Amino acid sequence: MGLFDDVLKEGESLIRNENALDYEFLPKLLPFREREQEAIARAIAPLLQGRNGRNIFIHGPPGIGKTAAVRHVLKELEEEHDEAYAIYINCWQTDTSYKVYLEMCDQLGFKFTQNKNTSELLKVVASIINKKAAVIVFDEIDKAAEFDFLYSLIQELLKKSIILITNYKSWLAELDERIKSRLTPELLAFKEYTGSQTLEILRQRRDYAFPPGVWDTEAFSLVAQRATAAKDIRTGLFLMREAAAKAEAVASKKITLDHVKQAIAGMDEFTIKNSQDLKEDERAIYDIVKAHSGKKIGDLYKLYKKAGGEVSYKTFQRKIAALDEGNFVTLERQTGEGGNTTIVHRKTTTKLTEF
Ligand SMILES: Nc1ncnc2c1ncn2[C@@H]1O[C@H](COP(=O)(O)OP(=O)(O)OP(=O)(O)O)[C@@H](O)[C@H]1O
Ligand SMILES: [Mg+2]
Repeated sequence: MGLFDDVLKEGESLIRNENALDYEFLPKLLPFREREQEAIARAIAPLLQGRNGRNIFIHGPPGIGKTAAVRHVLKELEEEHDEAYAIYINCWQTDTSYKVYLEMCDQLGFKFTQNKNTSELLKVVASIINKKAAVIVFDEIDKAAEFDFLYSLIQELLKKSIILITNYKSWLAELDERIKSRLTPELLAFKEYTGSQTLEILRQRRDYAFPPGVWDTEAFSLVAQRATAAKDIRTGLFLMREAAAKAEAVASKKITLDHVKQAIAGMDEFTIKNSQDLKEDERAIYDIVKAHSGKKIGDLYKLYKKAGGEVSYKTFQRKIAALDEGNFVTLERQTGEGGNTTIVHRKTTTKLTEF
């Protein structure tokens, strides 16, 4: 009789703390992101001394702790300092100036927003923040439908740090010059984790989520290996949850290699990053790649034009590069007799934003 026989009756969950496997769960410790958190803190620090802060542009591929690192810093700011407000906005949901100011009012505790228009809301936001200072994070900034709010906040707020987060480094280059020249952000690149870092991060997360002894060693190794290959911590979280479900379905008290293999087999159905995430023109290009994975970029462009696509070859190349940064496609450079070319592959295990 094993230790768990008494504890885990048939059909009971193997997971002790389900929340810990959520993508939004913020662990107490965020190993391997100390340098990045410090850089963010350094840009914010002047606000705590009554001076203006610096702005930061954070970029890097999906699932490597950009959101987590920034939220960690904000949390500490909120818990330990009164000098500056901490505001976090995800531009995926909050994508217009009106919605941004409304959300800011809400986070600042201002309730009387009814019947106020965009510029009135901005005035409220400025009058509250200008009595102190604020750190304002715009996560997934590339998903915003307009960027006027950036301009207005830079102009109206006296002491602030604006932090922008995106997968696309190229996004900044395309930003309206009028905004860019006033923002002048520091660039902060997040790099992918190594295999051993991924293993350590997932090990900590596993120990939050599961009682000791539930995971077979080789089963967990395979999870870490897959997450390393996908270069995305979310893949590991997804596989842990799915493998646990497979084990529970057969009332197993251990999660074995076989359960992880079943979870992996089911994974391709979930394209990681929902392609809903893409804007219309990017989606049209992504659809061409999906249908003709493994072709040369020039040939894909011809197919795209044939299908009624309108952008120039240069823009097409830029969009493909952006899809690569967003982990939707992978690029393979080939040197042949006719010179260099790029082969574009569809990525099958993409970002797991939703279960
Ligand atoms: N260093 C770390 N320590 C512990 N957990 C981490 C670490 N890095 C990432 N994670 C976890 O991995 C998951 C993905 O991280 P996060 O949401 O920050 O990714 P991201 O870089 O913002 O990705 P995206 O660009 O897709 O938004 C989260 O659940 C997060 O808690
Ligand atoms: Mg994020």
